[in-house]
Amino acid sequence: MPRKHLITTHPAPANANAVSFTITNTLKLDAQAELDALERGLLAPAASIAPKFFYDALGSTLYNAIVLTPEYYPTRTEAAIFARYRSEIAGYIGPGKQFVDLGSGDSVKAEHWFAALRPSRYVAVDISSAALNDALLRLVGNPDAPELAGLITDFSRVLDVSPVLRPGPTLFFYPGSSIGNFMPDEALWFLKQIRAHCSTPHCGLLIGVDTKKDPARLNAAYDDALGVTAAFNLNVLRHINTLLGTDFDVRDWQHRGFYHPALGRIEMHLEARRATQVRIRGHRRHFAAGERIHTENSYKYAPEEFSAVLREAGFVAPRCWQDDAADFSVFHASTGG
Ligand code: AVJ
Repeated sequence: MPRKHLITTHPAPANANAVSFTITNTLKLDAQAELDALERGLLAPAASIAPKFFYDALGSTLYNAIVLTPEYYPTRTEAAIFARYRSEIAGYIGPGKQFVDLGSGDSVKAEHWFAALRPSRYVAVDISSAALNDALLRLVGNPDAPELAGLITDFSRVLDVSPVLRPGPTLFFYPGSSIGNFMPDEALWFLKQIRAHCSTPHCGLLIGVDTKKDPARLNAAYDDALGVTAAFNLNVLRHINTLLGTDFDVRDWQHRGFYHPALGRIEMHLEARRATQVRIRGHRRHFAAGERIHTENSYKYAPEEFSAVLREAGFVAPRCWQDDAADFSVFHASTGG
């Protein structure tokens, strides 16, 4: 199927150090297929909504609030590991690489690496064109920033960064434990796709992964006292009302977020507070009181588990850095050479 391919070149703003950048868009503009998949998920006997639908403007803002709650440790723990081991990790990666940021968002995490890694090029990859645009415009003003490029794409199904990748040593950056949103077999497939993009030696992956830990702490991280995560989860219904024209009443639903130790994952669901009917395009879907819509999985990996997955995906010499409490892991693995 032919892909919509849209390229925008941004001229350098008058006050910047003569940097311009190109944004390539391979996001399938036939959003129709996405909406059909969303409808199928809602009408299925075990209803579900893909987590990518959390991130409309309000959802992204609520996520940025989640990371400030005392219970949600992953983001601040990862930042502390990066800060503490920055020069050691940079030593394993080496300077002058092309830096590909998967799920770049506001690009702040990547920016912290520029001085230590001196990348030859920075490629921001994100599903949100607004976030990517703002981020690159901001980076133009950073004197440590290298040549900049952007790719707007949805890599949750297929990862294809070939339209923007240049041959040569490349570091892929996938922080934040977003790998946890994939089922384990999909996570392996995703890592294999990254590996397949490493056509030259001296490529590598720097990735953040959440660890298995005391279920009480995991439960608290995904069901915080202020209800920020609850608002984030419930907001997906408002977003879907906008996208699909459904008539979900947020007040009929409540947040559930809990750790499932046997599966090693957090599950988030929206649970009907009472029996309710929802119009979904031409259909009427009945939800019984207590029935759930599954909205997210967030898999947790012990360090040795994730090292094995990296090796199985074709990476070598995985190294792991953790905080003292082993709450979070950062891995670097390479392609050898
Ligand atoms: C963005 C996928 C890393 O799984 O911890 C946070 C999303 N969901 N609180 C995670 C999330 C509820 C987050 N990731």
